[in-house]
Amino acid sequence: MTELADHEVSDQPRTSFKTFEESTAEDWAIIAPQLRITQSHVAERVIDLMRSLESDHGGFPVTRLEHSLQTATRAERDGRDDEYVLCALLHDIGDTLSPYSHPDIAAGILKPFVSEANHFMVKHHGEFQGYYFWDYIGLDKHARDVHRDSPYFEYTEEFCAKYDQTAFDADYVSNPLEHYEPLIRDVLRGR
Ligand SMILES: [Fe+2]
Ligand SMILES: [Fe+2]
Repeated sequence: MTELADHEVSDQPRTSFKTFEESTAEDWAIIAPQLRITQSHVAERVIDLMRSLESDHGGFPVTRLEHSLQTATRAERDGRDDEYVLCALLHDIGDTLSPYSHPDIAAGILKPFVSEANHFMVKHHGEFQGYYFWDYIGLDKHARDVHRDSPYFEYTEEFCAKYDQTAFDADYVSNPLEHYEPLIRDVLRGR
């Protein structure tokens, strides 16, 4: 499938109703299949957004892109599977769109394509990461404890302990974004 540039409008058929109330089954037969086309462009949008994280460091020793690449690279070099590595790569993609609730952005993008465990890990990594610093900024570092009964508590705790909270080393040599582009395209292409 060819990729659309941002300014191009799809030449696929369109409907002409003014409200959903007046739409018909025929209209939805035109619209429904085009969701797949929109999804087919997601990978390129995600890659662009990841690249834009290069321009923000937020005071951290490495840029938000380097932190993401380093998290993914550490997971990959530790033998994690592709799906886990993709989650590690994208876990902070929402940092510059929604700093206060950024885990929800990545979790939303990944949800249709990853396991329940990986979705939980991405969605809640903020509270688990908080264990390492929230006491320094006036928050409860034990906030993650509300998830103690979750079957994914230790799984998420491990993600932060091994890969997320360790991925701020300016001397670490991470894989470049290009290394992960095929994985992004493969998983986010859609079904
Ligand atoms: Fe995060
Ligand atoms: Fe992170």
